[in-house]
Amino acid sequence: MKHHPIFQNAITWRRELINRTVVAPMSRVSATADGLATDEMMDYYSAFAIGGFAVIITEGIYTDVYGSQSYNNQPALVNNAQSTSWEKITCAVHQSPSLIFAQLMHGGALSQYSEDTLAPSALKPVGVKMASYGGEGAFPIPKEMDLTDIERTKQGFINGAINAYKAGFDGVEIHGANGYLLDQFLTPELNHRIDHYGGTMHNRFRVIAEIIAGIKAAVPEDFIVGLRVSEGKVNDLTYRWTQGIETAKELADEIKASQPDFVHVAVQTGEWERDSFLEDGTSLASVIRQATGLPVIANGGFHNLDKAQVALQDNHATLIAIGKAALADPYWVVKTMNELPIIPFHRDMLWPEATLSHTQKIIKELGLEK
Ligand SMILES: Cc1cc2nc3c(=O)[nH]c(=O)nc-3n(C[C@H](O)[C@H](O)[C@H](O)COP(=O)(O)O)c2cc1C
Repeated sequence: MKHHPIFQNAITWRRELINRTVVAPMSRVSATADGLATDEMMDYYSAFAIGGFAVIITEGIYTDVYGSQSYNNQPALVNNAQSTSWEKITCAVHQSPSLIFAQLMHGGALSQYSEDTLAPSALKPVGVKMASYGGEGAFPIPKEMDLTDIERTKQGFINGAINAYKAGFDGVEIHGANGYLLDQFLTPELNHRIDHYGGTMHNRFRVIAEIIAGIKAAVPEDFIVGLRVSEGKVNDLTYRWTQGIETAKELADEIKASQPDFVHVAVQTGEWERDSFLEDGTSLASVIRQATGLPVIANGGFHNLDKAQVALQDNHATLIAIGKAALADPYWVVKTMNELPIIPFHRDMLWPEATLSHTQKIIKELGLEK
């Protein structure tokens, strides 16, 4: 198993990575009410580093107080106290040869924190709020963002990245996926704007391009700035672009022009081959990789190592992100490499709540500890 391509080291971002595994971002709503990272979170994140993951991407972290927060007990990088609270986590992770990126997130119309939500257009989201994140019932109709709202949002992401840098993170991932604010801008059905933030792909991508440029101007050159994108949405799992591969290529061209340091392609169903393969059999990850030449992280059901082998050997991706399997067992990498038994994911680990303490409770109750 040690010879599997996922366990081979790599030089990426001019750094030597111990292997090609990445922890996918997973919201765990276990911060304090005012967005401070806790000791429990330090234990959670440092376990992935001890367990052999090369890169750890944190849960979505909110970036401003004007509407970015998605959940109660979501961590933040808005102010100095919040930034300082992450230092113990980056420091603990750096005891091992792993990198840690902060995922910067704005919930937009899918925020479950407040009824006063913001979005590119005043369109009620389909679907219902997520109960395991404290949500209930339908989403409200969001306020259409004016240019002041957009400016504040951009500044929030830039400020969040500066606070991440100060906290000792190796980089940030801008959350442009899964139906949250930046994906709402990207999605024609959710963005009916007639100004320069709506219409063409170039316009719909503009806010992301401005955020990437703003962050790059504010942090040192070796601070890694990535972007996560997806076709599907958490509230609309089977959403597909009507123009399929044409949209993928247009998106890839915009990404290339904005020059992030990596692209992370997410899926909703956990089935990478179903969710991200476009109609001609090409994957979204490979379209982006070919068009941009950037490192690409692929995600979705890759605890299945046969799939991971295809993704790496057939040039779909550079690195592989693992979500639920890592959540269930943070030592997944070392255990899998050494063919030791792992704790398997069980849906009750996230139900009725997605908190860290609840998962630990279920692992004990089900006698899954090895
Ligand atoms: C509990 C949980 C929380 C998640 N939170 C986030 C998040 O904060 N940001 C994000 O981009 N994706 C989030 N995701 C999606 C995962 O990053 C990943 O895309 C998904 O779990 C599929 O990968 P897997 O098949 O390896 O689990 C979350 C997934 C889970 C299971």
